[in-house]
Amino acid sequence: MKKGFFFFLIPVLFAFVYKPGNGHQVIYDQGGNAIQKKIICENGAVVSAHPLASKVGLAILKMGGNAVDAAIAIQLALAVVYPNAGNIGGGGFMVARLSNGKQVTIDYREMAPGKAYKDMYLDEKGNPIVEKSLSGHLASGIPGTIAGLFESMKYAKLSFNKLIQPAIDLAEKGFILNDREAKTFNSLKAEFTKYNTVTPVFVNSAGWKAGDTLIQKDLAETLKRIKKDGAKGFYEGQTAKLIVEEMQRGKGIITAEDLKSYKPIVREPHIFKYKGYTIVGMPMPSSGGLLIHQMMKMIENRPLASYGFESPEAVQLMVEVERRAYADRAQFMGDADFIKVPVKQLSSDEYLKKRMEDYVPGKAGNSLLVKPGDIPQHESEETTHLCVVDKNGNAVSVTTTLNNSFGSKTIVAGAGFILNDEMDDFSVKPGSPNLYGAIGGEANSIKAGKRMLSSMTPTIILKNNKPFIIVGTPGGTTIPTSVFQTIVNIIEFNMSTEDAVWKPKFHHQWLPDNVNIEKGFPDATKKVLEAMGYKTVERGGIGRTEVIKVLPNGKFEAVADNRGDDSAEGW
Ligand code: DON
Repeated sequence: MKKGFFFFLIPVLFAFVYKPGNGHQVIYDQGGNAIQKKIICENGAVVSAHPLASKVGLAILKMGGNAVDAAIAIQLALAVVYPNAGNIGGGGFMVARLSNGKQVTIDYREMAPGKAYKDMYLDEKGNPIVEKSLSGHLASGIPGTIAGLFESMKYAKLSFNKLIQPAIDLAEKGFILNDREAKTFNSLKAEFTKYNTVTPVFVNSAGWKAGDTLIQKDLAETLKRIKKDGAKGFYEGQTAKLIVEEMQRGKGIITAEDLKSYKPIVREPHIFKYKGYTIVGMPMPSSGGLLIHQMMKMIENRPLASYGFESPEAVQLMVEVERRAYADRAQFMGDADFIKVPVKQLSSDEYLKKRMEDYVPGKAGNSLLVKPGDIPQHESEETTHLCVVDKNGNAVSVTTTLNNSFGSKTIVAGAGFILNDEMDDFSVKPGSPNLYGAIGGEANSIKAGKRMLSSMTPTIILKNNKPFIIVGTPGGTTIPTSVFQTIVNIIEFNMSTEDAVWKPKFHHQWLPDNVNIEKGFPDATKKVLEAMGYKTVERGGIGRTEVIKVLPNGKFEAVADNRGDDSAEGW
């Protein structure tokens, strides 16, 4: 998504705003889809990055499906209508709180192929060849999404056939593109041409325009094979054959054996208490759960609420907390099945108290432990988050990704889906920044079968042992800070859910040592921070946060981020 394009689009979108009597905000995009930014409802709620996918989720709930059913169907629909990030060629994480009180986390993160090795993206001088881990066939890890969806089926009520059918229909009959989507495809024409061996469906030589219909026949056939043969319809047979052939044409390394041996992993959630709340998040290979734990605990005993939202005192404290957590991320975090991650120590109260001993209110901290690299400022970042809650109290938080927008830009010819570029989330070389400027070391080095460290932070907060807030967002390394700030905004600053999501965010990730601020961040606070010694850098939208909050009367309030076409549905 082009930087600043969102800001251009806002007035265009608001030209279509319609406010029905029930207080819900409805916007019509130029594809004619109703985008609802906030709803309150009783029987179930859904929020995702695309209005058509949210509608699929609502239809599944109304059909008698539970929150897991809806989450599965939404992910499949997103793979069709939101190919920027929705996927079957990528991976993700699901955090669920079931009505029986059980918490489930499923890891379907991509894995390094069997032929992957530590220095595979370095040139003969030992320097990273950035393009190789980001675009084209070699950038892709073994996809995990379909395996993850079938693992999730253990908690679903409806048949998989019912859950995949809306995605098949959307692929086969097509859906209407809005202006933003048409422009995105057009802007990527050169890359789609460069990184593919066969011209993909997203390339239209005459150029796409709003109102055009995108039909994805190959993708529909792939989805039908999955419907017929289950996970084997992806990891074996014709789809696997097409992936391997694509790899061979483009010098990729994923083999039939890699695909056949991919396994999702059911993990113990990362859980901690904050004041009266229980926060349930994703464990390694996501850094999200632990980072939220560290950041929340570092503010817990400080009078943050009294400082006020986006006051210099509050922002400084949160920035310093973010700096410390991200420094630990770079040093210690990676796939805990391969390396020892000292999770207990990093999250102990004693350690976190010590960590803040050098925090000086009114004076900027300093990250000069490692010389900061030349940080690439990428314009696009694509991952996607969805939340679902049903009337029986099941709550699901899923973040799924191709990594960059449209992943590796390589589409499996004949199968119609985009492959991820998740290999770039590994630390390609210690001390060298990845797409998000994140630095890592040995803990996150490449190894066959290892999962790359993620920032994805699907989170569920319980109050009185019941779901209270379901939250998550895309945004690369900004994910944990966006989730952190959204939680703090609601719990500490007592803000409305929409303000908590929509108001400008800021981000610090240890290196580079600067505070990223979104447009609209208060100028007065920016000036005070600069006087304290911080370097501020204005950037495009931070994340696309989705939240469902359970209100005191038991109703569900779903809020979709206004930084994109994100939409909430419910009944
Ligand atoms: O797993 C991760 O941390 C990244 N691959 C996520 C990428 C992302 O959020 C891009 N989206 N905006």
